[in-house]
Parts: sequence; C-alpha cells; structure tokens
Amino acid sequence: MSDAPRHILVIGMGAGNPDHLTLAAVKAMRRAQVFFVLGKGREKESLTRLRRDILAEHLTGPYRVVEAEDPWRDRTQDDRGRYTSAVHDWRHRRADICERLIIEELAPGETAAFLVWGDPSLYDSTLAILEDIQARGTVEFGHEVIPGISSVSALAARHRTSLNQVGRPIHITPGRRLAEGFPDDDGDIVVMLDGHESFTHLTGRGLWIYWGAYIGTPDELLVSGPLDEVAERISRVRAEARERHGWIMDTYLLRHAPQDARGTESAHGTESSGGTDS
Ligand SMILES: C[S@@+](CC[C@H](N)C(=O)[O-])C[C@H]1O[C@@H](n2cnc3c(N)ncnc32)[C@H](O)[C@@H]1O
Repeated sequence: MSDAPRHILVIGMGAGNPDHLTLAAVKAMRRAQVFFVLGKGREKESLTRLRRDILAEHLTGPYRVVEAEDPWRDRTQDDRGRYTSAVHDWRHRRADICERLIIEELAPGETAAFLVWGDPSLYDSTLAILEDIQARGTVEFGHEVIPGISSVSALAARHRTSLNQVGRPIHITPGRRLAEGFPDDDGDIVVMLDGHESFTHLTGRGLWIYWGAYIGTPDELLVSGPLDEVAERISRVRAEARERHGWIMDTYLLRHAPQDARGTESAHGTESSGGTDS
C-alpha cells in the first residue's frame, strides 16, 4: 500500500452568490480529484446544485463528486447543555461518515475538497470534524483552509453598511443565545441560525435591524429599518418565503441608535428582493 499522504482542502465557497468564490478557492478546487458533499432534504437539493454548478463552471479536468447523507440531528433540545450535547453527538456521527469517505474514496496521494458554505471559520463543523478524525488515528491526512466570503460579510455589503460603529465591538451569536439574554456591551449584534425570530422580542429598545435571507441568491430578500417598525413585516416576509421554499437561511444585524443610518434610510425602513447583481 502507498504511504503517500492524503490531503484535504476545506474551501470557503461564499454563502450563495457564485461570484463570491475567490481566486484562491478556484485555484484550490483545481488541485482536488474528489469533492465530498454532505447534506439532506430540500435545502440540500439547491445547495448541492449550486456546488455542482460551481464545479462545472470552474473545472476543466476530470473530478469526482461523492455525496453522502447527512446524519439525523436532534433539533428539539432548547436547554443549553442538552443542545450542546445534541450537536456533539451529531458531529460525531458526521465524523464517522467523513472518516469512511476519506478511507474509501480518497486514495493515498490524492487530494479531496469540501466546499464549505460561506467561510469555514463561522458556525461550520468541518474543521472540528477533521480534527476529530485525526485524533482517532485511523487514517492519516493533512488539511488546509481557504477562507470564503461569509453570509455576515454578504449581509453587510448588501445593506451597504459596516458591521461595527466607530470604536465599538460586534457580537456574533446564534439566535437561541440571544433569546437567553441581550448582550450588554454597547456594540452591534449579528444574529445567525435563528429559527425562532428572536428579534421579535427585542422591540422597544431603539434598535435598528438589517435583515437578509437567501443573500446572494436569486431569491434574496432584504429589509432594514427601525426594529419597532419593521419587525412584523420581516416576520411576514420570512414566513411567506419559508412556506414557498420549504426552508430559509437568514441573518441580521441589530444596531444601537444608528445616527448615520437614520440619514440614509426612510423612517419606515427599506425592503428589496430579487437577488444577485449582474
Ligand atoms: C451553519 S451556519 C453557516 C454559516 C457560514 N459558514 C457562513 O460563513 O456564512 C448557517 C447560518 O448562516 C446564515 N446564512 C448562511 N447563508 C446565508 C444566506 N445566503 N443568507 C442569509 N443567511 C445565511 C444563516 O444565519 C444560517 O442559519
């Protein structure tokens, strides 16, 4: 058996707009012989299609795509401790699948790639899973990370705003943690992974919201304005979109008293839909 090393590239692919792929990502994709894709359900179908389109557009040589079913994940746990252990359990089962892919689908000396949604450093399990597999000692490989444009960067760009105000911090949180308590550090807050519209509990604080769903895709939806005035509209737009697509990905920025934004937005907020610039 060859002892040539296996290599894995963890490539950030942007969060929906194929033009957000960086030149470094394209160069890295061209080094891989095989691409591993994990996912399931309706969300998977469109995200997998986007990955396949990206590969078809940028690769000329031969390559293989190996798809595997994402393991079931218990999403019923709201309590912080049980939520964390449900995520660890899910990651462990995902690691089992990836370990099998690496052993069975990646020959020694070959390079594989994971096309990771957005940026691999932000709420993504791929790096933790690869470390888990390395710690098991069942298969040896090296790995490298190529950063991508995150949904957070794309959100700020589409709203033509910065994430922080001068000299202030920003706080990035999953929606479920926001429901447990509002960060008290005078900074702005980026909320991801919010299945429960946590923003609806934060009216009456003088906050401004910059919300976006399916950012960078042809289905993109954007709403911004004073939270007290636009919260209901976002809930309605969000529910309609979720019904239409069967799933939703949304992210938002909550800003304390945005003096600068007040000058540029209408008092009732702004709304737009319809996707990538071309
Ligand atoms: C598992 S995290 C992955 C984040 C990803 N690594 C990134 O850099 O954006 C999924 C969350 O990212 C956000 N997200 C990802 N893509 C998005 C998009 N195109 N539009 C809006 N939010 C998005 C949503 O908050 C979603 O719940």
